[in-house]
Amino acid sequence: MNADPVPLLRCRGVSKYFGALAAVKSLSFDVAAGEALGIGGPNGAGKTTLFEVISGLNPADEGSIELEGAAIERVAPATVCHRGIARTFQFNAGFDTLSVRENVLVSAHFGRRNRAWPGLAHDRATGELADRALELVGMTERAGHMVRDLPVFHRKLLMMASAMATEPRLLLMDEPVGGLNPGEIDRMMEIVLGLREQGVTIILIEHVMRFLVQLSDRVLIMHHGESIYEGSPRGLTRDARVIEVYLGEGMAKRLRDAMAGGDGGG
Ligand SMILES: Nc1ncnc2c1ncn2[C@@H]1O[C@H](COP(=O)(O)OP(=O)(O)OP(=O)(O)O)[C@@H](O)[C@H]1O
Ligand SMILES: [Mg+2]
Repeated sequence: MNADPVPLLRCRGVSKYFGALAAVKSLSFDVAAGEALGIGGPNGAGKTTLFEVISGLNPADEGSIELEGAAIERVAPATVCHRGIARTFQFNAGFDTLSVRENVLVSAHFGRRNRAWPGLAHDRATGELADRALELVGMTERAGHMVRDLPVFHRKLLMMASAMATEPRLLLMDEPVGGLNPGEIDRMMEIVLGLREQGVTIILIEHVMRFLVQLSDRVLIMHHGESIYEGSPRGLTRDARVIEVYLGEGMAKRLRDAMAGGDGGG
Protein backbone atom coordinates (compact mmCIF):
# COMPACT_ATOMS: atom_id res chain seq x y z
CA MET A 1 0.00 0.00 0.00
CA ASN A 2 1.17 3.53 -0.79
CA ALA A 3 1.73 5.89 2.10
CA ASP A 4 -0.19 9.17 1.98
CA PRO A 5 1.64 11.62 -0.26
CA VAL A 6 3.44 14.46 1.50
CA PRO A 7 1.18 17.54 1.30
CA LEU A 8 2.60 20.74 -0.15
CA LEU A 9 1.94 22.52 3.14
CA ARG A 10 1.51 20.89 6.52
CA CYS A 11 0.73 22.86 9.68
CA ARG A 12 0.64 21.08 13.03
CA GLY A 13 -0.28 22.66 16.35
CA VAL A 14 0.60 26.16 15.16
CA SER A 15 0.10 28.90 17.76
CA LYS A 16 0.92 32.59 17.79
CA TYR A 17 0.51 34.73 20.90
CA PHE A 18 0.35 38.49 21.31
CA GLY A 19 0.83 38.75 25.06
CA ALA A 20 -2.00 36.74 26.59
CA LEU A 21 -3.99 36.66 23.32
CA ALA A 22 -3.71 33.48 21.28
CA ALA A 23 -4.27 34.97 17.80
CA VAL A 24 -3.66 31.51 16.30
CA LYS A 25 -4.24 28.55 18.60
CA SER A 26 -3.09 24.96 17.97
CA LEU A 27 -4.05 25.08 14.31
CA SER A 28 -3.43 21.97 12.20
CA PHE A 29 -4.23 21.53 8.52
CA ASP A 30 -2.76 20.31 5.23
CA VAL A 31 -2.89 21.72 1.73
CA ALA A 32 -2.27 19.33 -1.14
CA ALA A 33 -0.40 20.41 -4.27
CA GLY A 34 -2.83 21.93 -6.75
CA GLU A 35 -5.52 22.50 -4.15
CA ALA A 36 -7.27 25.76 -3.26
CA LEU A 37 -8.05 26.21 0.44
CA GLY A 38 -10.34 29.06 1.45
CA ILE A 39 -10.07 30.57 4.92
CA GLY A 40 -12.91 32.53 6.46
CA GLY A 41 -14.00 33.67 9.90
CA PRO A 42 -14.99 36.78 11.83
CA ASN A 43 -12.80 39.88 12.16
CA GLY A 44 -9.92 39.18 14.52
CA ALA A 45 -10.17 35.40 14.08
CA GLY A 46 -6.43 35.16 13.33
CA LYS A 47 -6.53 34.69 9.55
CA THR A 48 -3.97 37.33 8.65
CA THR A 49 -1.80 36.30 11.59
CA LEU A 50 -1.74 32.78 10.16
CA PHE A 51 -0.33 34.20 6.90
CA GLU A 52 2.26 36.21 8.87
CA VAL A 53 3.32 32.98 10.53
CA ILE A 54 3.45 30.86 7.35
CA SER A 55 5.36 33.52 5.41
CA GLY A 56 7.86 33.92 8.25
CA LEU A 57 7.18 37.63 8.85
CA ASN A 58 6.03 36.91 12.38
CA PRO A 59 7.20 33.42 13.35
CA ALA A 60 5.01 30.90 15.17
CA ASP A 61 5.48 30.47 18.91
CA GLU A 62 4.51 26.79 18.80
CA GLY A 63 4.01 24.08 16.26
CA SER A 64 5.52 23.01 12.97
CA ILE A 65 5.05 24.20 9.40
CA GLU A 66 6.41 22.09 6.57
CA LEU A 67 6.66 22.78 2.86
CA GLU A 68 6.91 19.45 1.07
CA GLY A 69 8.21 17.89 4.26
CA ALA A 70 10.88 20.54 4.97
CA ALA A 71 10.47 22.65 8.12
CA ILE A 72 9.94 26.36 7.44
CA GLU A 73 8.66 27.61 10.79
CA ARG A 74 12.03 29.15 11.68
CA VAL A 75 12.98 30.25 8.19
CA ALA A 76 13.45 33.94 7.23
CA PRO A 77 10.77 35.49 4.98
CA ALA A 78 13.07 35.90 1.95
CA THR A 79 14.04 32.23 2.19
CA VAL A 80 10.39 31.18 2.56
CA CYS A 81 9.79 33.07 -0.68
CA HIS A 82 12.72 31.35 -2.38
CA ARG A 83 11.37 27.99 -1.24
CA GLY A 84 8.18 28.78 -3.17
CA ILE A 85 5.64 30.63 -1.02
CA ALA A 86 4.44 34.09 -2.06
CA ARG A 87 1.69 36.22 -0.61
CA THR A 88 -0.42 39.30 -1.07
CA PHE A 89 -1.46 41.60 1.75
CA GLN A 90 -4.82 42.62 3.20
CA PHE A 91 -3.75 46.27 2.98
CA ASN A 92 -2.33 47.28 -0.36
CA ALA A 93 1.44 47.15 -0.42
CA GLY A 94 3.54 48.64 -3.19
CA PHE A 95 6.20 51.24 -3.96
CA ASP A 96 4.11 54.34 -4.74
CA THR A 97 6.86 56.29 -6.45
CA LEU A 98 7.79 53.49 -8.87
CA SER A 99 5.95 52.37 -11.97
CA VAL A 100 3.89 49.19 -12.10
CA ARG A 101 6.61 47.35 -14.03
CA GLU A 102 9.35 48.59 -11.70
CA ASN A 103 7.37 47.25 -8.74
CA VAL A 104 7.06 43.82 -10.29
CA LEU A 105 10.73 43.89 -11.31
CA VAL A 106 11.71 44.33 -7.66
CA SER A 107 9.79 41.16 -6.79
CA ALA A 108 11.09 39.26 -9.79
CA HIS A 109 14.65 40.25 -8.90
CA PHE A 110 14.56 39.54 -5.17
CA GLY A 111 12.33 36.53 -5.63
CA ARG A 112 14.92 34.72 -7.72
CA ARG A 113 16.93 32.10 -5.95
CA ASN A 114 20.09 32.84 -7.87
CA ARG A 115 20.35 36.48 -8.75
CA ALA A 116 22.84 37.06 -11.53
CA TRP A 117 23.38 40.71 -10.61
CA PRO A 118 24.01 42.44 -7.29
CA GLY A 119 21.81 45.27 -6.00
CA LEU A 120 18.91 46.24 -8.20
CA ALA A 121 20.56 45.61 -11.56
CA HIS A 122 18.61 42.91 -13.32
CA ASP A 123 19.09 40.70 -16.32
CA ARG A 124 16.78 39.96 -19.22
CA ALA A 125 15.29 36.83 -17.59
CA THR A 126 14.13 38.96 -14.64
CA GLY A 127 12.47 41.39 -17.01
CA GLU A 128 10.72 38.52 -18.76
CA LEU A 129 9.48 37.14 -15.43
CA ALA A 130 8.03 40.55 -14.55
CA ASP A 131 6.36 40.93 -17.94
CA ARG A 132 4.83 37.44 -17.73
CA ALA A 133 3.47 38.20 -14.26
CA LEU A 134 1.91 41.45 -15.49
CA GLU A 135 0.31 39.59 -18.37
CA LEU A 136 -1.12 36.94 -16.00
CA VAL A 137 -3.15 39.61 -14.20
CA GLY A 138 -3.95 41.66 -17.30
CA MET A 139 -1.80 44.65 -16.30
CA THR A 140 0.51 44.81 -19.35
CA GLU A 141 -1.10 48.00 -20.60
CA ARG A 142 -0.55 49.73 -17.26
CA ALA A 143 3.11 48.73 -16.95
CA GLY A 144 4.27 52.35 -17.19
CA HIS A 145 1.72 53.82 -14.77
CA MET A 146 2.88 55.17 -11.43
CA VAL A 147 1.63 53.01 -8.58
CA ARG A 148 0.40 56.00 -6.56
CA ASP A 149 -2.12 56.72 -9.36
CA LEU A 150 -3.64 53.22 -9.44
CA PRO A 151 -7.22 52.55 -8.37
CA VAL A 152 -7.69 49.92 -5.66
CA PHE A 153 -8.49 47.07 -8.07
CA HIS A 154 -5.26 47.56 -9.96
CA ARG A 155 -3.32 47.83 -6.73
CA LYS A 156 -4.62 44.40 -5.81
CA LEU A 157 -3.72 43.05 -9.24
CA LEU A 158 -0.27 44.56 -8.85
CA MET A 159 0.25 42.69 -5.57
CA MET A 160 -0.73 39.48 -7.33
CA ALA A 161 1.65 40.17 -10.20
CA SER A 162 4.44 40.93 -7.72
CA ALA A 163 3.76 37.67 -5.89
CA MET A 164 3.59 35.66 -9.13
CA ALA A 165 6.87 37.18 -10.33
CA THR A 166 8.62 35.12 -7.64
CA GLU A 167 7.27 31.94 -9.31
CA PRO A 168 5.56 30.50 -6.22
CA ARG A 169 4.22 27.00 -5.85
CA LEU A 170 1.97 28.24 -3.06
CA LEU A 171 0.24 31.61 -3.27
CA LEU A 172 -1.34 33.10 -0.14
CA MET A 173 -3.94 35.78 -0.87
CA ASP A 174 -5.28 37.94 1.97
CA GLU A 175 -8.70 39.36 1.02
CA PRO A 176 -8.01 39.69 -2.71
CA VAL A 177 -11.46 41.20 -3.38
CA GLY A 178 -12.05 43.21 -0.18
CA GLY A 179 -13.54 46.57 -1.20
CA LEU A 180 -14.01 45.67 -4.89
CA ASN A 181 -17.23 46.02 -6.89
CA PRO A 182 -19.08 42.98 -8.30
CA GLY A 183 -17.58 43.32 -11.79
CA GLU A 184 -14.06 43.53 -10.36
CA ILE A 185 -14.75 40.52 -8.16
CA ASP A 186 -15.77 38.51 -11.23
CA ARG A 187 -12.60 39.57 -13.05
CA MET A 188 -10.46 38.60 -10.04
CA MET A 189 -12.19 35.23 -9.99
CA GLU A 190 -11.18 34.60 -13.61
CA ILE A 191 -7.61 35.56 -12.85
CA VAL A 192 -7.40 33.24 -9.84
CA LEU A 193 -8.92 30.42 -11.92
CA GLY A 194 -6.20 31.08 -14.49
CA LEU A 195 -3.53 30.71 -11.79
CA ARG A 196 -5.10 27.45 -10.66
CA GLU A 197 -4.99 26.14 -14.23
CA GLN A 198 -1.26 26.83 -14.19
CA GLY A 199 -0.96 24.52 -11.20
CA VAL A 200 -0.43 27.14 -8.49
CA THR A 201 -1.62 25.95 -5.09
CA ILE A 202 -3.69 28.59 -3.34
CA ILE A 203 -4.74 29.60 0.15
CA LEU A 204 -7.10 32.53 0.11
CA ILE A 205 -8.64 34.50 2.94
CA GLU A 206 -11.88 36.22 2.07
CA HIS A 207 -15.03 37.65 3.63
CA VAL A 208 -16.81 37.79 0.25
CA MET A 209 -18.41 34.39 0.54
CA ARG A 210 -19.35 33.83 -3.10
CA PHE A 211 -15.69 34.32 -4.00
CA LEU A 212 -14.55 32.01 -1.22
CA VAL A 213 -16.95 29.15 -1.93
CA GLN A 214 -16.62 29.27 -5.71
CA LEU A 215 -12.83 29.21 -5.77
CA SER A 216 -12.11 26.84 -2.89
CA ASP A 217 -11.94 23.05 -2.98
CA ARG A 218 -12.02 23.10 0.79
CA VAL A 219 -12.81 25.73 3.39
CA LEU A 220 -11.40 26.32 6.86
CA ILE A 221 -13.25 28.67 9.20
CA MET A 222 -11.34 30.23 12.08
CA HIS A 223 -12.75 31.70 15.27
CA HIS A 224 -10.62 33.03 18.14
CA GLY A 225 -7.53 31.53 16.51
CA GLU A 226 -8.96 28.02 16.24
CA SER A 227 -10.45 25.99 13.43
CA ILE A 228 -14.20 25.56 13.90
CA TYR A 229 -14.87 24.03 10.47
CA GLU A 230 -12.82 22.27 7.83
CA GLY A 231 -14.61 20.73 4.89
CA SER A 232 -16.54 21.35 1.71
CA PRO A 233 -17.89 24.79 0.75
CA ARG A 234 -21.34 23.22 0.62
CA GLY A 235 -21.13 21.76 4.13
CA LEU A 236 -20.13 25.17 5.44
CA THR A 237 -23.59 26.58 4.75
CA ARG A 238 -25.21 23.89 6.93
CA ASP A 239 -22.80 23.94 9.85
CA ALA A 240 -24.57 25.19 12.98
CA ARG A 241 -21.44 26.67 14.61
CA VAL A 242 -20.33 28.49 11.44
CA ILE A 243 -23.82 29.92 11.02
CA GLU A 244 -23.88 31.00 14.65
CA VAL A 245 -20.51 32.75 14.82
CA TYR A 246 -19.96 33.90 11.25
CA LEU A 247 -22.44 33.50 8.43
CA GLY A 248 -25.80 34.06 10.09
CA GLU A 249 -28.92 32.28 8.84
CA GLY A 250 -29.58 34.78 6.05
CA MET A 251 -26.17 34.49 4.39
CA ALA A 252 -26.12 30.71 4.86
CA LYS A 253 -29.46 30.42 3.08
CA ARG A 254 -28.40 32.78 0.26
CA LEU A 255 -25.29 30.69 -0.26
CA ARG A 256 -27.27 27.44 -0.25
CA ASP A 257 -29.73 28.83 -2.79
CA ALA A 258 -26.94 30.18 -4.97
CA MET A 259 -25.06 26.86 -4.88
CA ALA A 260 -28.24 25.05 -5.85
CA GLY A 261 -28.47 27.54 -8.74
CA GLY A 262 -24.79 27.06 -9.51
CA ASP A 263 -23.37 30.58 -8.98
CA GLY A 264 -22.06 30.50 -5.41
CA GLY A 265 -24.14 33.25 -3.82
CA GLY A 266 -23.66 36.91 -2.85
N1 LIG B 1 0.98 42.67 15.77
C1 LIG B 1 -0.02 42.47 16.63
N2 LIG B 1 0.09 42.79 17.94
C2 LIG B 1 -0.92 42.57 18.81
N3 LIG B 1 -2.09 41.99 18.48
C3 LIG B 1 -2.25 41.66 17.19
C4 LIG B 1 -1.24 41.87 16.20
N4 LIG B 1 -1.70 41.42 15.00
C5 LIG B 1 -2.93 40.95 15.23
N5 LIG B 1 -3.27 41.10 16.53
C6 LIG B 1 -4.53 40.64 17.14
O1 LIG B 1 -4.66 39.27 16.83
C7 LIG B 1 -6.01 38.95 16.53
C8 LIG B 1 -6.09 38.36 15.14
O2 LIG B 1 -5.85 39.39 14.20
P1 LIG B 1 -5.83 39.10 12.64
O3 LIG B 1 -5.43 40.38 11.97
O4 LIG B 1 -5.01 37.91 12.37
O5 LIG B 1 -7.38 38.77 12.35
P2 LIG B 1 -8.11 38.51 10.97
O6 LIG B 1 -8.80 37.20 11.11
O7 LIG B 1 -7.17 38.68 9.84
O8 LIG B 1 -9.21 39.67 10.97
P3 LIG B 1 -9.83 40.52 9.74
O9 LIG B 1 -10.88 39.67 9.12
O10 LIG B 1 -10.41 41.73 10.42
O11 LIG B 1 -8.71 40.87 8.82
C9 LIG B 1 -6.79 40.24 16.71
O12 LIG B 1 -7.33 40.25 18.02
C10 LIG B 1 -5.75 41.32 16.55
O13 LIG B 1 -6.10 42.48 17.25
MG1 LIG C 1 -7.07 39.93 8.25
